[in-house]
Amino acid sequence: MADGAASRGATPAGTAPGDEAAAARNIREMFGRVAPRYDLLNKLLSGRVDRYWRRRLARAVRPYLERPELRAADLCCGTADVLLALAKERRRRFPAGGQTQMIGSDFCRPMLTAAAAKIARENLPSALVEADAAAFPLPDGSLDLITVAYGFRNLANYRRGIEEFARLLDRGGCLAVLEFSQPANRLWGPLFELYFRRVLPKIGNAVSGADGAYSYLQNSVERFLTPEQLADLMLASGFRRVERRLLTGGISALHLAYK
Ligand SMILES: C[S@@+](CC[C@H](N)C(=O)[O-])C[C@H]1O[C@@H](n2cnc3c(N)ncnc32)[C@H](O)[C@@H]1O
Repeated sequence: MADGAASRGATPAGTAPGDEAAAARNIREMFGRVAPRYDLLNKLLSGRVDRYWRRRLARAVRPYLERPELRAADLCCGTADVLLALAKERRRRFPAGGQTQMIGSDFCRPMLTAAAAKIARENLPSALVEADAAAFPLPDGSLDLITVAYGFRNLANYRRGIEEFARLLDRGGCLAVLEFSQPANRLWGPLFELYFRRVLPKIGNAVSGADGAYSYLQNSVERFLTPEQLADLMLASGFRRVERRLLTGGISALHLAYK
């Protein structure tokens, strides 16, 4: 893979290419504006399929969730929907509780405020940390499982992000990245593209009240690494094996990387 592809990252509107500090700042502010209506828009724009995608992530990492002493973090946790899916899956194995805490982390305070309310309401065994996923305040090898759903695409430098996740994971640990993809099917692909380019940004921008946030979503998915580039980056960054599962005709893809 050309180094350029992996070393680039999100470039939201108004950010000069290569200015990673400004990119991260703009992303954080944009999600801050989206946060109050984020859950509503997920429901509206995906018809609740997003919940199924997070459930698939949780099921895929079940062998880790069944470990009694799991050390896990959901990075770019947003409003804690992945933490909820992971806790539900883990409860199948440990119905009486006794669970170790999972960390949820995001660098956007309003998202964490919404996450805290959900964690309290659902009585989740989670602790929240405000931090940048690409420079996470834990020592090397301190986690067994890292999940990142629809957050990785927003990092200012993809290579730095993957290298940070590899640093945080212990030997045998798993990184699960859930991200949008672009369906390749000749029938489904153009239909999805029409929805994603024409319909979704209009509804998303209008309902969120965050001007341009859902145009950014569409642009960022189109600019994101291909699944093959992401797999190459994972293998070049200390992971020994990668797997990919396409969901709903390839609208989402679950990338699993094992250290
Ligand atoms: C599309 S939301 C996904 C939220 C959640 N994981 C979900 O499944 O709904 C992306 C989240 O990533 C967070 N994020 C983006 N870049 C980040 C970074 N560098 N460090 C921490 N959080 C980040 C944003 O603040 C936002 O809450």
